[in-house]
Amino acid sequence: MTSLTLRGDDRVLHVAWPDGTQADFPFLWLRDNCPSGFHPQTQERQFDLTSIPMDITIDRADQDDGDIVLTWAGDGHVSRYRAEWLLAHRPGVGLADPAKVDPVLWRGDLDPASLPRAAARDLMTRDDALLDFLIEAKKTGLALVDGMADDTEAGMAMARRIGFLRETNFGTTFEVMSKPNPNNLAYTSHALPLHTDLANQELPPGFQFLHCLANEAEGGGSTFCDGFAIASDLKTADPEAFKLLAETPVPFRFQDEDYDIRRHHRVIDLDPFGDLQELHFNAHLAGIFDLPADRMETFYGAYRKLMQMTRSPDYVITTRLKGGEMVIFDNRRVLHGRAAFDPNTGFRHLRGCYVDRGEFDSRIRVLSRSNA
Ligand code: OGA
Ligand code: ZN
Repeated sequence: MTSLTLRGDDRVLHVAWPDGTQADFPFLWLRDNCPSGFHPQTQERQFDLTSIPMDITIDRADQDDGDIVLTWAGDGHVSRYRAEWLLAHRPGVGLADPAKVDPVLWRGDLDPASLPRAAARDLMTRDDALLDFLIEAKKTGLALVDGMADDTEAGMAMARRIGFLRETNFGTTFEVMSKPNPNNLAYTSHALPLHTDLANQELPPGFQFLHCLANEAEGGGSTFCDGFAIASDLKTADPEAFKLLAETPVPFRFQDEDYDIRRHHRVIDLDPFGDLQELHFNAHLAGIFDLPADRMETFYGAYRKLMQMTRSPDYVITTRLKGGEMVIFDNRRVLHGRAAFDPNTGFRHLRGCYVDRGEFDSRIRVLSRSNA
């Protein structure tokens, strides 16, 4: 039996569960989350918080068939909560999230052959295979799919199985090949140092899908590094440099005939809980640094240190995509790059698109429902 203790003096209901878990539920929280205040179909809150006083109290607390039943002083409203619902939502802990997958950091000693990998057919046809793959892809931030159809639409079809595509100024999909009049270094045959895409956007795209249709030219190998591993090692080795990169806004900019998209970002971005959220690192889209002159040199020192780490074999892995492979990576965590290639020796063609993190996570949650 759930044992209930009511501590009215500090306006919390104290609940102890049979497994020893205990939690305090403030009265205001309980009234705000009374199940009667949510729309029965949409589960959205309809209750108006301003309709109750701040010092709301309860007259009585009872247990009934696994429910906790509160009768509120004043209007006599009765709220009924499942004890396990309260356990799952307890303050300070909050609801478990199947999409909260802790990153498993990796460095230059990671063998690319050990990256998460799945067959396109399995991912397209089996929800359990897709769920496992998405979770693994979140852990490493980098995964591969083999057996993609030799079809320019195949990468998009796979990405759409996860979520809707993120459109950008380059379109809902982009062709990475050497083109005349390129508006982006990616559309040349030059090397691309490790970077995150579209750091100039207000919200850079989340997961990137690069379907390799052909990689027959000399050169053109791919490089990756785990930006979270670099940031966390920098934090240990040089906390001052980490702090500067986590606090200093730097400008990023893309411009062509039709667009001029600019945004300041911190190179290392922490989430509201203080955990690593994102790296914005793209030397070719970095704008002209505009911080005060007396802080410039110190900032350059930190920025250059991070940049050197992205060149170090301690962090960088190298692989070569083959026609029929697709690489999927978290563009806001894993930096990607490529070696220069010689377009006269063969054709190189990747087709890319993005699915943002929110849709990727949503897919994990929805697939987890049916697997529960
Ligand atoms: C890009 C990119 C990598 C490659 O298009 O942004 O980084 O291998 N391409 O061509
Ligand atoms: Zn890129």
